[in-house]
Amino acid sequence: MREQLVAYFGAHHKLVEAGALRLILDTSQPLDLSRRLIETAGVDSPFVTLEMVESELRRRAGAARAEVVARARALAPAPTVASPPYELLVEGFTPPTAREPLGAYTALFASRFRALSRMLRGRPELAGLRPVSELRRAEGTAAVIAMVREVRQTPEKHHLILTVEDETGATEMLVPRDTAPAKLTYLPDEVVGLVVALPREHDRIPRVVAVQRPEVPASRPVGRARERRRALFLSDLHIGSRSFLDGPWGSLLDFLNEKSVRPELAREITHVVIAGDLVDGIGIYPNQERDLAIGDVFEQYEELGRRLRELPRRLNVIVLPGNHDAVCPAEPQPGLPEEFRAKLPENVRSVGNPSTFALDGVVVSAYHGRGFDDLIPALPGASYARPTEVMKRMLSMRHLAPIYGGRTPLAPLARDGLVLDPAPDILVTGHAHTYGVDQYRGVLLLNASTWQAETEYQRMRNITPVPARAAVVDLTDCSVESFDFLSREPAGEGRAA
Ligand SMILES: [Fe+2]
Ligand SMILES: [Fe+2]
Repeated sequence: MREQLVAYFGAHHKLVEAGALRLILDTSQPLDLSRRLIETAGVDSPFVTLEMVESELRRRAGAARAEVVARARALAPAPTVASPPYELLVEGFTPPTAREPLGAYTALFASRFRALSRMLRGRPELAGLRPVSELRRAEGTAAVIAMVREVRQTPEKHHLILTVEDETGATEMLVPRDTAPAKLTYLPDEVVGLVVALPREHDRIPRVVAVQRPEVPASRPVGRARERRRALFLSDLHIGSRSFLDGPWGSLLDFLNEKSVRPELAREITHVVIAGDLVDGIGIYPNQERDLAIGDVFEQYEELGRRLRELPRRLNVIVLPGNHDAVCPAEPQPGLPEEFRAKLPENVRSVGNPSTFALDGVVVSAYHGRGFDDLIPALPGASYARPTEVMKRMLSMRHLAPIYGGRTPLAPLARDGLVLDPAPDILVTGHAHTYGVDQYRGVLLLNASTWQAETEYQRMRNITPVPARAAVVDLTDCSVESFDFLSREPAGEGRAA
């Protein structure tokens, strides 16, 4: 975690004092605190000092936590300890403020812009950076960091016109047809860095010559477990659906109880992550009641509790909600309400959607994946059959669901919890009901299948599920073994590093 934090501050052009770092590491959510410190330090100060950390901790915790500060101060140089088995780092959801909704959306977009522009600022490729309002005063080439507001095509020549904005104003930009920037797809509400050429005639609009995305840094320290530990990734159980795959779930239990293939591997599994759509819910889509075996949402969670009690009790199980769960659908979603959480066994932790946590030092970002519903139609060639291709785009723009006003409802929170910061070691999603394993710039990508067979509704929408698959990740090197529990003899599908 120490190296990751130093790199995290480095990526935001901040140097962190040794004492400040020790104190940050001594808190329960070091990454969350670090992000807050970067936000409050502003662009002008390159340092994060012990005083800044202390004042932030005092602000957060009030007098009650002052003793934590005193304790941390009394600490000798931090001993190197193994990572804790499980640590929640950042939850996307933050409790809403009392602001009226319109103002809150302004705050949400301002938060997104700040968080993503910090990742772009300072790049040599974006030399001559200036605010949008001052762009037309520049000559030759310049650069801006801006949020894409609108993309349209000119009727005759099919050039692209982008309307982009930052906190100083908005402007149009031309992306000439057949140039490299015209081959990219620009999504509404994503944040990009643009290198532009400025025409001499002031009535002509700036021309985009190069584009930078926030991106996953090319080199960064990775988190790896020191001892052999494995994590199992599942998603979309849809408990309560008539199409729940009872037989394959039984095969999964046999596997986890070391009564099936690869018992030596099953024994090393210590964590299970379930990426949302835990239950099928009620009234999620038209005529859903026809597809339900359990028509009451409380009973669905009771059944979920029974199913999860069948897993070995030694497992640390992390569950997040999806769009079928009994949580407000606007993203980021909070964890399950207590009345439902109480129905689950003790070894299950309920976190919000999305959440970032560390499993034996490996940083995992888990997101259910509703954002696919807007990204897939917007990205040429994208499909539910290949969700990891869309996940690459999420990592490149460092945002899970940027498009506002589409099918993914966004919660008007003061902090944009869908910004992907820090870049994780593993990004896992569900929702697509397909299975995918891939890599992007050192990040392992998983789409964790489903335990629901095809429903009539999916047939209508032309979605072919790939159910009853599970990914087992070796946390010492992030290699993956895939298992197919649909066939009677569960088949491991070999390793993909
Ligand atoms: Fe689902
Ligand atoms: Fe879903």
